[in-house]
Amino acid sequence: MRDLVAETRVDVQDLVAPLFVREAVADPIPITSLPGVVQHTVDSLRREVNELAELGVRSVMVFGIPEHKDATGSASCASNGIAQVALEQLRADVGDDMVLIADLCVDEYTDHGHCGIIDEHGSVDNDATLELYAAAAVAQANAGAHMVAPSGMMDGQVAAIRAALDDAGHINIPIMAYASKYASGLYSPFREAVDVTIAGGGDRKGYQQDWRNGREALVEVAADVAQGADIIMVKPAVTYLDVIAEVRAATDLPVAAYHVSGEYAMIMAAAANGWIDGDVVALEQLTAIKRAGAGVILTYLTRWFAEGARGLS
Ligand code: PBG
Repeated sequence: MRDLVAETRVDVQDLVAPLFVREAVADPIPITSLPGVVQHTVDSLRREVNELAELGVRSVMVFGIPEHKDATGSASCASNGIAQVALEQLRADVGDDMVLIADLCVDEYTDHGHCGIIDEHGSVDNDATLELYAAAAVAQANAGAHMVAPSGMMDGQVAAIRAALDDAGHINIPIMAYASKYASGLYSPFREAVDVTIAGGGDRKGYQQDWRNGREALVEVAADVAQGADIIMVKPAVTYLDVIAEVRAATDLPVAAYHVSGEYAMIMAAAANGWIDGDVVALEQLTAIKRAGAGVILTYLTRWFAEGARGLS
């Protein structure tokens, strides 16, 4: 009877699996702070995506880790950059049976670890970075991405990317905008996953949101909607359920939420200690995110969920 009247159900089709692919490695490399998640080789990535497809997963998000990083993150825009190489192979494998989303940012590619180009004062140059994002978007779409997801939080990024995609003829490639992304402490395992250290012990408070602000999220969302975003994302998820609910009320676009690396790691660590039942807490968190209003959830729990939501602890 509880099932009959349950208001919220998470479905495998709601979930997007974030996946990492690393250039020039012979074998997948485990990520210590993200148990069960690895830096894939192109081949192991292809196997993983095919297995996910068989499990009923409909979408993945690809992050590339280049062999060489430089000041402008040039591999993010190169047709032979690792993300583009991987996307091309995946698209050949899955065609249109799965939605291939390309995370669009440069921090994995820059030697200073920031999400943009650094000016002579050491700050991120917003407008110079937009040109880089535009080029990366076109490279990702050329490689076969079905959708791009800009995560750098530069002002005007959605408009710049939309214009560049349209000019290149990619008029049907939608943009999933990381619209409300907070300068969170919950990204640390991700930074291990993509080998990013922000130069000089820096942070991203200059471009990501202050967690003390809720209304500001709606300003960010309105800007991205006006610029042509197709899906609006809130990130992280569980610490920002209020923001998800407000964003859901403020737009009729699809709303996504990213259950980030630190949220996953906390569940895994506590479950490994026997302090919580990981399966229960993981399902509780995904359900809460959907209940708050996110119809799309990016989560490292995708495979676990698709396999029956059992076995975290
Ligand atoms: C930045 C980016 C980050 C994540 C996705 N894209 C980290 C950051 O902003 O420092 C975090 C994802 C996660 O923690 O799972 N391009």
